[in-house]
Amino acid sequence: PGVYFVEHVASLENFEIKDSDIFIATYPKSGTVWTQNILSLILHEGHRNGTEDMELMDRIPWLEYNIKNIDFTSLPVPRAFATHLPYYLLPRDLRNKKGRIIYVTRNPKDVLVSYYHFSKFIITLEEVPDFNIFMERFLAGKVLASSWFDHVAGWYGHVEDFNILFLTYEDMKKDLRSAVLKICNFLGKKLSEEEIESVVRQATFENMKKDPRANYENLPDDIAAKNKGRFLRKGTVGDWKNMMTVAQSERFDEVPARRAPLK
Ligand code: PPS
Repeated sequence: PGVYFVEHVASLENFEIKDSDIFIATYPKSGTVWTQNILSLILHEGHRNGTEDMELMDRIPWLEYNIKNIDFTSLPVPRAFATHLPYYLLPRDLRNKKGRIIYVTRNPKDVLVSYYHFSKFIITLEEVPDFNIFMERFLAGKVLASSWFDHVAGWYGHVEDFNILFLTYEDMKKDLRSAVLKICNFLGKKLSEEEIESVVRQATFENMKKDPRANYENLPDDIAAKNKGRFLRKGTVGDWKNMMTVAQSERFDEVPARRAPLK
């Protein structure tokens, strides 16, 4: 989307990963920013340690969209990153059990609808006003981050290569506290009851929406058309039912069955 540099992504192959590194990996629109905020709150003591004025994107930078040219080697440990990269583009170390990964998935029909709205809001993504055409592109993997099916299959198909925690958007919606506890356990972080409550409170859709640093409100005007949408749009499960016709939903369901199995 204009911030994706081929050389940078290629250089990541040899990016040296520390055992303490933490990655949030997702296909776009699956709950990345939400998980970024939760992780940041867990790591940075509810943002009362001097990080409260930092943008979420600076607390947990994107691995492949390094728009601010951050020197990753200078980040304090534990370093935390977000990525949409598919399995085959990952740094070699990461595919060799270095670092820890939180992989979040979401019902792909909700991902599709969220992505459709997002492409109107982000200037560097091509806007496709016709939802049907956008859906066909999504199903063909002709959108940023490529095919949802390949992304999920690539990560799930190589579980043995990673230290990984799988979460779903739907489970996070159903029980946010449990998701926070799962992440704490996975990272070996011991938070008090009060701290857990505070993370959960600050990570609800309503509270994140009010926090300009958590909801990416400060993105530059050449990236986001702020009059056309927001990162935190609806934050619900099943919004696809408000958008997709029965025929579109059936067409969507056909695709995985017709795809060749992935290696
Ligand atoms: S991106 O662009 O890939 O980083 O987008 P991503 O953050 O993965 O996904 C955006 C969707 O996640 C929703 N969201 C939330 N839902 C519930 N609770 C919280 N706290 C929350 N934070 C973000 C956001 O609203 C997008 O979904 P839609 O369906 O468009 O509302």
